[in-house]
Amino acid sequence: MGSEIRFILNDDEVVARKPAGRTVLDFVRRDRRLVGTKVGCREGDCGACTVLVGRRAEEGRVRYRSMTSCLMPLGNAHGAHVVTVEGLNVDGLSPDGLNPVQRAMAEEGATQCGFCTVGFVVSLAGFCLAAEEITAEEAVAAIDGNICRCTGYKSIERAAARVSAALAPADVEERVGWLASNGWIPASFVSIPGRLAELGASVPYEGTASGTGRRGSVGGGTDLWVQRPEEMEGAPVDLLLDDPRLRGIREEGGRIVLGASTTVQEMRESPLLLRLFPRLKRHLKLVSSTPIRNMATLGGNLVNASPIGDLTIFLLALEAELLLADGETRRRLPLADLYRGYKELDLATDERVVSISFAAPGGGTRFNFEKVSKRTHLDIASVNSALRLEVEDGVIREGTLAAGGVAPVPFRLPATSAGLAGRPAAAETARWAAASALEEIAPISDVRGSAEYKRLLLRQLVYAHFVELFPETVPVEALL
Ligand SMILES: Cc1cc2nc3c(=O)[nH]c(=O)nc-3n(C[C@H](O)[C@H](O)[C@H](O)COP(=O)(O)OP(=O)(O)OC[C@H]3O[C@@H](n4cnc5c(N)ncnc54)[C@H](O)[C@@H]3O)c2cc1C
Ligand code: FES
Ligand code: FES
Repeated sequence: MGSEIRFILNDDEVVARKPAGRTVLDFVRRDRRLVGTKVGCREGDCGACTVLVGRRAEEGRVRYRSMTSCLMPLGNAHGAHVVTVEGLNVDGLSPDGLNPVQRAMAEEGATQCGFCTVGFVVSLAGFCLAAEEITAEEAVAAIDGNICRCTGYKSIERAAARVSAALAPADVEERVGWLASNGWIPASFVSIPGRLAELGASVPYEGTASGTGRRGSVGGGTDLWVQRPEEMEGAPVDLLLDDPRLRGIREEGGRIVLGASTTVQEMRESPLLLRLFPRLKRHLKLVSSTPIRNMATLGGNLVNASPIGDLTIFLLALEAELLLADGETRRRLPLADLYRGYKELDLATDERVVSISFAAPGGGTRFNFEKVSKRTHLDIASVNSALRLEVEDGVIREGTLAAGGVAPVPFRLPATSAGLAGRPAAAETARWAAASALEEIAPISDVRGSAEYKRLLLRQLVYAHFVELFPETVPVEALL
C-alpha cells in the first residue's frame, strides 16, 4: 500500500502528493496548467471537463473510458492513464497539426466559441479507442454527455459520423495500434500498457487524504462530488472503485452476483446480463450519460438512497439481496430492507456493500424497466418503475413491482406485488395493478412534477410494462 497517487498523465508519469479527494479537473488545470480541459458546471452535466481514463483490462490491454474530471477524485486516477485534450495532439503528422477528430470538428463547422469543443474531441477520441461497434449512431451516443450552447448539434453529429466513417473497423484490441500508426493519437499510447504495469498499477492506493478520522466509502464520486464538493476535497476517503473484491459480474449457484463497484457501463456491456436481460442496453441508456455511466457504481446508486435511483428500482424488482461487510463481520440484507426512511439506511457507518445478488431469471421470467424524465437522456427520473413477473401458461405465478419518485424511499410495492400471483398476463391485470399501485404510493409535489402528475405517470408506466412484456395479449388499444 502506498499513499502517493501514481498515474500517467498524457505522456508523463505523475506522483501526486495531493489529497485523494482533489478533483482530477483541479489537478490538471491548476496544478499541471493543462487548461485545455474546461470548467463548466462542475456537476457532470456539461462535459466540458471530459478526460479519458485508461485502465489495464484483464487481457493486458488498456481500456479507455471518457469521464467527467470535475467529479473524479484524484485517488481514482491511481494506476491509470489519464488523457486530457493536450495528450491527443499528434505532432508533425499532418500539415494543419490537427488529428482526424479535430479536423472533422473544424471542417464540419462543429465549433464556434470552442468552449465545449475539447470535451467533444475527447469523447470522440474515447469512441475511437473503445467502441465495439463503429457506427455513426454509436459515435453520436459517445457524445451524449457533452453540451454545446452555440453550435447546432447537426454539425457536431456530422463530425461524429465522419469520424466513424474514417475509422478502420479494426478489432478493438488492435485499435490503439491502428490509431497510433495512422496519426489519430500519439505513438506513445502504444507503450502505455507496459508503462502502467511497471508503475505497479496493481498496488492499491491507501486512499486516505489526511490519515485521520473515519474514511467514507467512495465509488465513482458522481453523487458525492455533486453534493459535497468542498468537503470532499479534504475528506478521508476509502476508494472502492478499483478494489478487486468489489468487482465482477458472475453467476453463482443459481444467482447473479454483481460486485458493488461494478459501473453502469460495465453492466451495459456484460455478456451475461445482456443474455438475461435483452433490453438492458436500452434500459441503461436512460441512466445519465456515457461519461457518468463510466464512473457511476452500483454500490453508490444503492447507498445514495435517492428515491429515484434507476439501478435501485431495477434491482428492487429483482428482489435483490446485499452482502454487507465491516471488515470483521458479514451479513445479508434484502435490498428493500436497506431503506428505512428518506435517506435513512440500515447500514452502519463502517459497513460497505460488497455485492448485490438476485435469482437468475428463468425461462418464465419477464422483466421491464421504464423511466420518465424531463429530458430523455442525462436526466434523473420524475418517476421510474420496474416490473418482474414469473409467468407459466399465461398466468402470473409471482411478481414484484418497484417504483421511484412516488414515496420517500425507492419503493417495492408490497400489496401490488403480492396481488399479482394467480392473475392472467392480460389487460385486466394491467388495469388492476395500476389501480392497486395508486393505492400504495404517496408522491409529493416537487420540481420534477406535481403529486397528481406522478400518480398519472406511474399508472402509465404500469400499463407500459404490460404492453412491452405481452404485446400479443395486451395491445396498447386494450388500455385506452
Ligand atoms: C450528471 C449526472 C447524471 C446522473 N443521472 C442519473 C440517472 O439518470 N439515474 C440515476 O440513478 N442516477 C443518476 N446520477 C446519480 C449517480 O450517478 C448515481 O447514483 C451513481 O450510481 C452513484 O455512484 P457513484 O459510485 O458515483 O457514487 P459515489 O458518489 O461514489 O457514492 C455515493 C454514496 O454511496 C456510498 N458508497 C459508494 N459505494 C459504496 C459501497 N460499496 N458501500 C457503501 N457505501 C458506498 C458513498 O459513501 C456515498 O454515500 C447522475 C449523476 C450525475 C452527476
Ligand atoms: S464541468 Fe461540466 S461536466 Fe464537468
Ligand atoms: S461552440 Fe460554444 S459552447 Fe459549443
